[in-house]
Amino acid sequence: MNTLASYTAWIEKEIESFAFPTHPTNLYDPLRYFMTLGGKRMRPMLTLMSANLFGKSIQESMPAAMAVELFHNFSLIHDDIMDDAPLRRANQTVHEKWNTNIAILSGDVLLVYAYEQICKQPPHIIPSLLSLFNKTAIEVCEGQQMDMDFETRSDVSAEEYIEMIRLKTSVLLGCALEMGAIIGETSLENRKALYAFGEHLGIAFQIQDDLLDLYGDPEKVGKQVGGDVIANKKTLLSILAKTNASAVQLSKLNALQGELDITKKLSETKALFEDLNIQELCNNEMRKHYDFAMSSLSTVQVANSLEELHALSNYLFHREY
Ligand code: IPE
Ligand code: IPE
Ligand code: MG
Ligand code: MG
Ligand code: MG
Repeated sequence: MNTLASYTAWIEKEIESFAFPTHPTNLYDPLRYFMTLGGKRMRPMLTLMSANLFGKSIQESMPAAMAVELFHNFSLIHDDIMDDAPLRRANQTVHEKWNTNIAILSGDVLLVYAYEQICKQPPHIIPSLLSLFNKTAIEVCEGQQMDMDFETRSDVSAEEYIEMIRLKTSVLLGCALEMGAIIGETSLENRKALYAFGEHLGIAFQIQDDLLDLYGDPEKVGKQVGGDVIANKKTLLSILAKTNASAVQLSKLNALQGELDITKKLSETKALFEDLNIQELCNNEMRKHYDFAMSSLSTVQVANSLEELHALSNYLFHREY
């Protein structure tokens, strides 16, 4: 079994080897900056581990793994504009360090680089890879639009929220895993089982992301604490708070949406969430999807050990950033 640290090292080495051009500097400096800020690199890891299940080497699946990481970084640069986020990976976001137009364009180029990587895979599997990748990319945009639309709605249900995070986050994890399975030329059943594993792992992952947004250690999370509350994002926290609140609590929660004093907004929202036991309720929902993910993984028919994917899932479940 390869360790998570060795996967990280292979991925970082590959990213370092990218020879992004230097001119125009305002196009390439931001994307080089962003790509080398670190991050967990879990999506490319999923692709490499998935292909490895079927006996494919790191070299054989690295281009697809890079495509997923490039796409993810493109989506984050644009997400930070949409979310008006000042910090990412404990550093300034691209639109803050440069400006919004530069962040749009350097993000766009990363998306094109992603396609360039897919073209490096064997020609006979490129149509399958592209069809999955394109479907996923469109779904991520759909999820991101729903996320923004929800900011100004007060009647978002838990089901709508789960569908939104399935689209904005989970499908890319499913795609990362299924691309590994396509490279591994395995059965359709295995492809579907790995995709479903990623889909539920992704839902658990995004619930965790929502929890970390409010309760994470700012030093570790590397993002603005409370950004979701500040922006009135509909997260599982805010939705469960609403459904469980008394009439008095509900009117307080509603009033806080319009509160301009950020410190007050955060502390009072947190106090209400505490009274309503929101962290535990979210953890239960997260555990449900995590367990479903693991049971889907266990249906993959393969001689090789599933230990690497187990180790990565376990690491993600206990992460602090
Ligand atoms: C952040 O993803 C965006 C979400 C889908 C929540 P990650 O938490 O994987 O970000 P990095 O790549 O590790 O920084
Ligand atoms: C981001 O969700 C999902 C995508 C980038 C597609 P969030 O907006 O919650 O991610 P963070 O918290 O900024 O990383
Ligand atoms: Mg967002
Ligand atoms: Mg965001
Ligand atoms: Mg978030």
